[in-house]
Amino acid sequence: MNKQNLYHPVTIGNTQIKGNLFLAPLAGYTDVPFRSLCIEMGSDMTFTEMVSTEGLFRKGEKTLALLQKAPNETEYAIQLFMGTTDSLPGALEQLRGYNPTFIDINCGCPVPKVTKTGAGSSMMKNPPLITEIVKMITRTIPTAVSVKFRTGWDENSQNYLEFAQAALDGGASMLTLHARTRAQGYAPFADWAKLKTLKDYCITNGYDVPIFGSGDLFHAQDAKKMLQETGIDGIMFARGAIGNPFIFQQTKDLLEEREERTISLEQKIAIILRHLDLMIAHYGEKSACIQMRKHTCSYLKGIANTSAIKQEVVKASKREDYLEAMHRLQASC
Ligand SMILES: Cc1cc2nc3c(=O)[nH]c(=O)nc-3n(C[C@H](O)[C@H](O)[C@H](O)COP(=O)(O)O)c2cc1C
Repeated sequence: MNKQNLYHPVTIGNTQIKGNLFLAPLAGYTDVPFRSLCIEMGSDMTFTEMVSTEGLFRKGEKTLALLQKAPNETEYAIQLFMGTTDSLPGALEQLRGYNPTFIDINCGCPVPKVTKTGAGSSMMKNPPLITEIVKMITRTIPTAVSVKFRTGWDENSQNYLEFAQAALDGGASMLTLHARTRAQGYAPFADWAKLKTLKDYCITNGYDVPIFGSGDLFHAQDAKKMLQETGIDGIMFARGAIGNPFIFQQTKDLLEEREERTISLEQKIAIILRHLDLMIAHYGEKSACIQMRKHTCSYLKGIANTSAIKQEVVKASKREDYLEAMHRLQASC
């Protein structure tokens, strides 16, 4: 691997992934259609939304639906969350047949409904638990495990190095640090210096596992800066990909020193309609058109004078409604 190129393959467990620009797990967004679209637009790796081990254990229909792979998803990771290991063996049984490239453990979710069960960012208060979880998974199924975590619970407990060590003790094959505390939520600014500290810690202690960074990646330039400043192996676009899946190709172009491509209104409209059609194929027209409203408003962000179009979109219930709105958008610009 030529580390001088900021864009390069990464190896997770026994699998080589062709590049280091990933789509982060995003509950409520990274469903099959959106992952599929991001792959078409250059994402190198995709994750399911967070999946409850308890829900898997109970064979909940909605939970099992989250495991579905997109047709173009040759590699994908399943992200699990849990506050104890009680439901883990039963949950792993349910994963048979899905063959994820790796399983990721969510140790970053700040939502009280999740943290009160000991899951998500609450896991950071209990490093021995992550060791146990990673060990249990790797002993049960032949799948690599990665861990996504924050810098700590709050400013006074920034234990990310101790937590990383606990994950590595269990045998984690990749680490992703969202460089904020749980208390910070999603507010700016992520503390990228801690990504460098984590990478340096792993190098010093002889751990050759890829380190990924997350936090405040909204433009291709942000990704380049994060990779350059911290020495980490790859990045995950999260909110930066919502309404802008072009970001993967734009970043690849920037990292490989190709000319920056600007996105025309026609390309934006084409991607909205492509996304809509992927949604319809997956959910059926009615549900797709309702769910597509929030995505479309994200696509329209930053385009001047679109408030009337947005008002149309938030009422759209048929494919036809979107076609009309896009026609009006085209005519108004
Ligand atoms: C709406 C939303 C849903 C998210 N869902 C998940 C999730 O299911 N699993 C997870 O590990 N992180 C989740 N995250 C965190 C993101 O993956 C990412 O780490 C975080 O947004 C920081 O990156 P950003 O500042 O570039 O958006 C979510 C974030 C948002 C905004």
